[in-house]
Amino acid sequence: MPLSVKGSNPWQKSSGEAWVAPSLLACDFARVGAQIDAVLSAGAEVLHVDIMDGHFVPNLSIGPAFVESVRRYTDAPLDVHIMVSDAAYYVDQFASAGADSVTFHIEATDCPRELAQRLHGLGLGAGITLRPGTPADAILDVVDAFDLVLVMTVEPGYGGQKFMPEMLKKIETVSATLTGQQRLEVDGGIDPETAGPCRSNGANVFVAGSAIFRADDIPGAVRELRKAIG
Ligand code: DX5
Ligand code: ZN
Repeated sequence: MPLSVKGSNPWQKSSGEAWVAPSLLACDFARVGAQIDAVLSAGAEVLHVDIMDGHFVPNLSIGPAFVESVRRYTDAPLDVHIMVSDAAYYVDQFASAGADSVTFHIEATDCPRELAQRLHGLGLGAGITLRPGTPADAILDVVDAFDLVLVMTVEPGYGGQKFMPEMLKKIETVSATLTGQQRLEVDGGIDPETAGPCRSNGANVFVAGSAIFRADDIPGAVRELRKAIG
């Protein structure tokens, strides 16, 4: 049965300028709507939604019902990052839940190109990502099929971890393989201090959870991050 989707590919609309992507994993789940308003009012361009299955990563986070609620609440682009062992199964789940783009792990599929084609066939964005321990080579032969590459700058599974500076080299390597239409996203331990070097090495979408939602002044934290990425 054909999937009905509500989203549309956000990456084709972007001109390559730096985007701020607050990660809702770090928000107060009892006040998600208000916190979405807070980050969007401060100019965040896209909402990052971290899905964890407790198997690919030890943590269990949120599911399609959460994305459906957020979809009903806002038109902001939903950048869904699925840290799951069965990427093929969940791509459809989150496409129909309202994702605008789905990013999956190269370690969680043996058909990355087909999944990207499936997302594009639904009018959605497609992202590929890799754990810190997975070398950039693992994605280089399929990068052309994607709108976005997400270079994880922490081991996936939890917010609030320390940025891994050794990922700066991988960011630079991946950036060199991308066209002007493709985006390079970084995710994990991103704050005004760590974002700058990532930007210099080619990143242009910045996921931040704790740096934004653990701040007393959430809009101010978005603006601080923006200053660091120019
Ligand atoms: C980690 C997630 C990240 C994380 C970011 O597995 O993919 O998006 O939520 O959180 P911070 O910014 O707190 O490291
Ligand atoms: Zn993420």
